Amino acid sequence: MAELTKYLLDESEIPKQWYNIAADLPEPPKPPLHPATGEPVGPEDLAPLFPMALIQQEVATERWIEIPEPVREAYRLWRPTPLYRAHRLEAALQTPAHIYYKYEGVSPTGSHKPNTAIAQAYYNKLEGVQRLTTETGAGQWGSALSFSCNYFGLECKVYMVKVSYQQKPYRRVMMQTWGATVIPSPSDQTNAGRQILQQDPDSPGSLGIAISEAVEEAATHPEAKYSLGSVLNHVLLHQTVIGLEAELQMEMAGETPDVVIGCFGGGSNFAGLAFPFVRHKLQGRRQTRIVAVEPTACPTLTRGKYAYDFGDTVGMTPLMPMHTLGHTFVPGRIHAGGLRYHGAAPLVSLLVNQGVIEAEAYSQVECFEAGVLFARAEGIIPAPESTHAVKSAIVHALRCKESGKARGDPLQPFRSRALRHERLRRVLRRKAGGLDAERRGARAEPRGDLWFSAGELAVLGRGGFPFLLCRLRQERLRG
Ligand SMILES: Cc1ncc(COP(=O)(O)O)c(C=O)c1O
Repeated sequence: MAELTKYLLDESEIPKQWYNIAADLPEPPKPPLHPATGEPVGPEDLAPLFPMALIQQEVATERWIEIPEPVREAYRLWRPTPLYRAHRLEAALQTPAHIYYKYEGVSPTGSHKPNTAIAQAYYNKLEGVQRLTTETGAGQWGSALSFSCNYFGLECKVYMVKVSYQQKPYRRVMMQTWGATVIPSPSDQTNAGRQILQQDPDSPGSLGIAISEAVEEAATHPEAKYSLGSVLNHVLLHQTVIGLEAELQMEMAGETPDVVIGCFGGGSNFAGLAFPFVRHKLQGRRQTRIVAVEPTACPTLTRGKYAYDFGDTVGMTPLMPMHTLGHTFVPGRIHAGGLRYHGAAPLVSLLVNQGVIEAEAYSQVECFEAGVLFARAEGIIPAPESTHAVKSAIVHALRCKESGKARGDPLQPFRSRALRHERLRRVLRRKAGGLDAERRGARAEPRGDLWFSAGELAVLGRGGFPFLLCRLRQERLRG
């Protein structure tokens, strides 16, 4: 029998519990600190922003947390998601590696983000909240929260990073279709936005700035609360449905992953896939390599400092222990808007610091090249964020090949496609001259005139299969 391409689970196999990695950490995470007192924040400090159920999840230490039935009911709209074996990519690369990807793009909004948006909207609804405010970078998180607020009958207001608002108008239309109000950030609707605009009227915006605006609005309106699409412990917790399903699917495939890879913005899709696999590593049962992949334009894990910093630009959130480029850092205008965040999830930062998780960074051009290659092999056009995971998976798969018998030119496998690929490479390099500067330092900004098909990749690409699992048939990875 031919090997399967899709590993599918039944609806009854949607996880009944989320996995909480706090139970398995070698040391307890450091607490967030109150910016005024420097003391650990308590539930009452967070209550203006979040419902109590989510505050409790933020500090929970039990390993498994029940998924409420109405949340599982909503998950049934798109979960379980398929695990694909990337047969055609493997063939194109002529690699002995087995490459799998967990495809979250089948969700109503096209990414992993509804896994937590639905849960957050549910808990807010239960506690009588009428309206949620949030930020969005690429528009994926804003779409997910708009969809989820509509599902549970809440109003939704989204501050969308201005450069993404301009680059991705279709995302704005999606949010409006689900009934949300969408404001380009920085805006003149909040003190935070006005302050930024005064300093830089042409500010492209950033996730940090948009968070300041959304937090301010929630904190000053009693009927509203704030919802964050990444970074926080409870968000990563909700996303673990991805990895828990993937574990079952890898069992179906009769394989165990050697490398688990996810793109990294604030850390939610990465942790969602990786944490269930990290648990076996922490419990000493497996030696899996766990790799978070970020843009060189915003190299938080690879070049940031591990320190207490604000989650937003203006300095309204608690101080969190995390890898950070500094809360005033505004990344270049790369298309992967969801990866333009100065900070990182404290849980992921801790594990990077302890050497349990590795981090890699790639430039926009290399990621788009990998994304085009993936689209031509597998058919699915990835979101710019997801292309970072694709790039890393290709690098690891080719390295695996080099460590085996099939040495040689890493582009050799693409010979049949090589001309088109090389042409694309040349056009991207020429048209995106500014991108060379990006390689020299995080602050350099690429120009916005990418070749049109790369631009389309940014507009049309499906998000939410940011996850690739590699298994190596004969060789273990080196280096
Ligand atoms: C498709 C996609 N992938 C990844 C991310 C990065 O966020 P996170 O690191 O929380 O998964 C985003 C954020 O908007 C996104 O839209």
